[in-house]
Amino acid sequence: MKRFDPLSNLSALRCPPPSQFPVEWRALLRPLPFRYPLEEEQYIQISSGRRVLLRPVRPGDTSAYQAMFQLVDRDDVRFRFFSYLKQLPSNELLRFQKIDYDLNINFIALGTTQSHDREMLGVVGATVIPEESTAEFGLLIRSDQKGQGLGRMLMEKLISACGMRGIGTIRAEVMTRNLPMLSLMRKMDFQFFYQADGAYVEIRLRLRKITSTGTGESP
Ligand SMILES: CC(C)(COP(=O)(O)OP(=O)(O)OC[C@H]1O[C@@H](n2cnc3c(N)ncnc32)[C@H](O)[C@@H]1OP(=O)(O)O)[C@@H](O)C(=O)NCCC(=O)NCCS
Repeated sequence: MKRFDPLSNLSALRCPPPSQFPVEWRALLRPLPFRYPLEEEQYIQISSGRRVLLRPVRPGDTSAYQAMFQLVDRDDVRFRFFSYLKQLPSNELLRFQKIDYDLNINFIALGTTQSHDREMLGVVGATVIPEESTAEFGLLIRSDQKGQGLGRMLMEKLISACGMRGIGTIRAEVMTRNLPMLSLMRKMDFQFFYQADGAYVEIRLRLRKITSTGTGESP
């Protein structure tokens, strides 16, 4: 009599791989890069009720960033890059292409469209200057997604990630005319340093060191 072999039965039950993946699924199949900070992924709900994933940048996110950039108003582009650019500057793209989780801290906000595609709604990116224990950051929300709390939540994510890495201060240059950003920064307790020409403000925030238990230590 033939013996019952549970393993051969199991392999017969195993689901064959689907032959045709939707394009967006391929990103899910890519292995995560070495040292990807998975623990920093977080789902949030914005004021419209939409669920949004905040996560560190991964290889393959460049095209989503370029697609988002096409939906950013020219004035918002100017507020972010200080120039009316038609395309993302090469140094900004490089942050997405040569990912270094120690020197660049980038978080993106991803939503899901009605056709189940992922779309990028915002990004905050900081470059760490280890010898000064500072990080210089820039924040950009897709123009049709502003005013729903995304800017604040991406900033909170950045502040917490920088605190966990022991960074002492985060800073940025903001145009004096950029009242939405200055209002947000004021609410987040940044200090303002007005520059001599009056066109820009340097904003700075001293960070509390965050311990692994999540509690803050004074700077
Ligand atoms: C500035 C910016 C990041 C704000 O993002 P956002 O998602 O719209 O902001 P939030 O919804 O999180 O709002 C947070 C706070 O910002 C301020 N704010 C946002 N939009 C504002 C506006 N149109 N006018 C005044 N204050 C505004 C408010 O203080 C608000 O707090 P509240 O909700 O309690 O009123 C976004 O407008 C943007 O991407 N602008 C273009 C790029 C840019 O300026 N980058 C900064 C240079 S680094």
